[in-house]
Amino acid sequence: MSLLPNKSIYATEDAQFIVRNDIHHDDLEYNELLIETHYSGVNPADIRHSTLLGIRSTVVGYDFAGRVISSPPGSKYKEGDIVAGYTPSGLGRPTKYGAHQDYLTVPQDDIFKVPPNLPKAHAAALAVVVMTAADAIYNLFKTPLPTTDPGFITAPILIWGASSSVGISAIQLARAGGHKNIFVTASPGRHALLKDLGATQAFDYSSPTVIEEIKSAVASLGEGPITHGLDAVGSMSSPCSSSSAHLLAQAVSDSAVLASVVLRPGTKFQMPVAAIKDGWSIHPPGAPGPVSFPTAPTRHQNAWKALLWAVDYYGTKFRFPVVEVFYVTPEEAVGELVKVAEGKRGFGKVVLKHPFR
Ligand SMILES: NC(=O)c1ccc[n+]([C@@H]2O[C@H](COP(=O)([O-])OP(=O)(O)OC[C@H]3O[C@@H](n4cnc5c(N)ncnc54)[C@H](OP(=O)(O)O)[C@@H]3O)[C@@H](O)[C@H]2O)c1
Repeated sequence: MSLLPNKSIYATEDAQFIVRNDIHHDDLEYNELLIETHYSGVNPADIRHSTLLGIRSTVVGYDFAGRVISSPPGSKYKEGDIVAGYTPSGLGRPTKYGAHQDYLTVPQDDIFKVPPNLPKAHAAALAVVVMTAADAIYNLFKTPLPTTDPGFITAPILIWGASSSVGISAIQLARAGGHKNIFVTASPGRHALLKDLGATQAFDYSSPTVIEEIKSAVASLGEGPITHGLDAVGSMSSPCSSSSAHLLAQAVSDSAVLASVVLRPGTKFQMPVAAIKDGWSIHPPGAPGPVSFPTAPTRHQNAWKALLWAVDYYGTKFRFPVVEVFYVTPEEAVGELVKVAEGKRGFGKVVLKHPFR
């Protein structure tokens, strides 16, 4: 490995994002594979985990697709296989796990083989957001996993900010699990697309009357109150009375089960998490000490089954409508990561082509 040229995007200890050419991976564990990265998927977390959660002195990025260079003895993955998945997070994260580099290392439990129906660039965009949506829908909301014969759940579910990639995933997973009435909020220009993916009623989240519109639609539907609500965007507006979670909570009854993609301490919102197989910790700047996320293996296995379902049925029962591939230098890529983290890229997934230019 030490001879392989490897450009990477590195978060320094003071959360600056720099390009390094000197990182090599000679420290593979017994269960890890070395991967030649072909695409790395961009998430808001790539930057935010360094700036907001204190995960630093590491190569950034989680989602990827690429070719197996080496695998452990007895592994089901062999040299040359095309695989995708995501890499572990947390304080002390080794540089080998960063996805935004030309070679990376990944534990073999965190990957899947890329089938012919799944374009490689799309495979690099899946794991983080599908695992998060799956944790919300199948674990926190307890919707049954996709089956060939889903029972219909008639009580409405509401997904706020449903054109986020987590939201797009949640709509399709909710439909696959048997939800018949899927209410969403999104910009009006997305409503037709979201209905095509499985939403049944769509509302403009920026309408001053959106809460009344949703309540009136629930009453007209006559299938009972909204039982579950997912804040799929996690906006933190000031004043907080216009945050996505606050608006969602106003649109549903007090008995609804609620989840938000970001931590909402002191509220009834539970948080779905993309990576719960292993325990990991964060240390937000200014916090008195680290905060730990415990391991939740059963939740992980359930969500992983859903991810594999999305992989198997990609292009028919599950899809991302927009995956934009950037073939850029790592310096240019930093600009794209920042735009995504600041919510300035808008709709669709962004994926970086490797090797970096
Ligand atoms: N907990 C976890 O493990 C975890 C994992 C992954 C992501 N997340 C979090 O989940 C959130 C979504 O991530 P993502 O990658 O899916 O986002 P994304 O794809 O970048 O979301 C972009 C979309 O957000 C929508 N949006 C922006 N502001 C909005 C608002 N105020 N209200 C409603 N919708 C709004 C826009 O929809 P329109 O086009 O309709 O305007 C836009 O198309 C982020 O906060 C991210 O940090 C958490």
